[in-house]
Amino acid sequence: MTTVLKGKDILHVKDLKLEHISLISETAARFETVMASGGILTNMTGKVLATLFFEPSTQTRLTFETAMLRMGGHVVSVTDVKTSNSAAKGERLYDTGKMIDGYAHVAVVRHMAEGSAKELADGAGVPVINGGDGSGQHPTQALMDLYTIQKERGRLNNLTVTLAGDLKNGRTVHSLSWLLGKYGPRFNFVSPKELRMPEDITKGLVADGIEVVETTNLAEAVAKSDVLYMTRIQRERFIDPVEYERLKGSYVVNLDLVKKSKHGITIMHPLPRVDEIAREVDEYEGAAYFRQAAYGVPIRMAVIALVTGLE
Ligand code: NCD
Repeated sequence: MTTVLKGKDILHVKDLKLEHISLISETAARFETVMASGGILTNMTGKVLATLFFEPSTQTRLTFETAMLRMGGHVVSVTDVKTSNSAAKGERLYDTGKMIDGYAHVAVVRHMAEGSAKELADGAGVPVINGGDGSGQHPTQALMDLYTIQKERGRLNNLTVTLAGDLKNGRTVHSLSWLLGKYGPRFNFVSPKELRMPEDITKGLVADGIEVVETTNLAEAVAKSDVLYMTRIQRERFIDPVEYERLKGSYVVNLDLVKKSKHGITIMHPLPRVDEIAREVDEYEGAAYFRQAAYGVPIRMAVIALVTGLE
């Protein structure tokens, strides 16, 4: 059972079955327990993780690197696309994948082009993890989002979940809706009309028998939700800056809105936030976004350990 993910790439949440999700969560929980009791993990000793970030990142890169270091491994990175890597020289990701085999035992890639992680994985023999490919997928974020929901709500099934913000361009909500869809949620998708969830995702969920309500009204949706998953308007994906300026302030969650929400609502955000959650909300006990960011470490430890077979 524990070898089911060994040697596998983690590129799209559709590759993850329920048994994989449970295994990753259980492994993350085990690592969390070891760390909480002051224990030291050594399962990645002598191994190298390559982090190839062709797009900005704080949380994702830091959690992957922290995860590897906390298991006794090493990290090599590419972070600045303009100066420190050959992407600027037009190197094909396939070839980068081939090269990585000579340096590292596992790799994480983030890139502005959808499908980029797959291209790198096609070249690489070592397991490749998609750390975000354009507006496509961000599977490990969705895994830590599920882990957070389980911790905060005590269950994954029978929940009303509102995903709000830039549902068109946000890869986190694309991954999370597929993954959470396996647990039979009731979804509210809240966005400006121009930034609606891609139709293939909405239709796919409805075809699977999941209730999906699409609306522009955030207050109405959160009044009946157990979880609000807020996202920023993805400035870098806009072709027209004027359109971004027009839509950027579409939604702001403040304490007033929290008070009108369903009692005890859990508020999540993949970070970074711009202004879509007011700072005053941080004091609300259901504001889970910084706990969510911290769960990135055990979840990514589990993913790295399982794909390398060193859990
Ligand atoms: C997200 C991303 O990069 O897709 N951030 C993250 O990984 N935590 C969300 C975002 O950039 O808005």
